[in-house]
Amino acid sequence: MKVTVVGAGNVGATCADVLAYREIANEIVLVDIKEGLAEGKALDIWQKAPIDLYDSRTVGATNDFSRTAGSDVVVITSGLPRKPGMSRDDLIATNAQIVTSVTQNIVKYSPEAIIIVVSNPLDVMTYAAHLTSKSPRTKVIGMAGILDTARYRAFLAEALNVSPKDIQALLMGGHGDTMVPLPRYTTVGGIPVTELIGKEQLDAIITRTTYGGGELVKLMGTSAWYAPGSAAAQMVEAIVRDQRRVFPVCMQLDGEYGIKNCYLGVPVILGKNGVEKVLEVQLNTEEMASLKNSEKHVREVMEAFDRMGK
Ligand code: 2OP
Repeated sequence: MKVTVVGAGNVGATCADVLAYREIANEIVLVDIKEGLAEGKALDIWQKAPIDLYDSRTVGATNDFSRTAGSDVVVITSGLPRKPGMSRDDLIATNAQIVTSVTQNIVKYSPEAIIIVVSNPLDVMTYAAHLTSKSPRTKVIGMAGILDTARYRAFLAEALNVSPKDIQALLMGGHGDTMVPLPRYTTVGGIPVTELIGKEQLDAIITRTTYGGGELVKLMGTSAWYAPGSAAAQMVEAIVRDQRRVFPVCMQLDGEYGIKNCYLGVPVILGKNGVEKVLEVQLNTEEMASLKNSEKHVREVMEAFDRMGK
């Protein structure tokens, strides 16, 4: 399997590293616009192979998309990260152009590839890539739900002093302040979370999750990369190994949850064809209102993107 990662910054390089050391793909191409960066990081990852014992081959290329030809999956991480004080939406002007041009190059050389978008603002960059690629909606998806859910699960594991492995959770909606964590669909080793934690503490964890990306931007002066890079690699793995994993991913909705033509995180089955099935779970009135609020917000940013093209 051949996987391309566009953008050799922190997130892209972390994703390529995870793909290599976990042998998720045997051929990994890392591309970046900055001369030598992708080549250097790819070489470094390759030189780690004798230490960590893997045989996946990582190569780098400066802006040469012909090297990506025939990729099965492409991860787009290109674009600027957030700086303190910025919202993800503040990145739209710069990143929309970058993601559009990267997508054009990707489909030129790999028209069949499944595209995973990681650039922010995530939901609208997924829209930009989908629009540009003209691929089916099941093949152009965004990574946010796995990351946001992971943050929620990590905070819960800490609060309950249990292994994060045993926390299962679902989170829907946009990748931003309007995301919709779902305590009713959160379990700890099969036990509903609400039986193990009080409402006040759970609410505080939900709030921390909602601003989880911002917490890291504040600490580091730039956005996160270990969890985002691994989350994108986990999506690649589900596709190339046809695992049919159940994950929340961002995609264009076509009537699911009563929403059409908006890009939001929903639970899906992820396999060799990309999204194999969208899962429609029951939402109560309050949860549905939160999802609608997220829809409203994402639509506003989609409209800002549409205006840029005019
Ligand atoms: C985050 O939430 C990078 O948006 C990403 O950290």
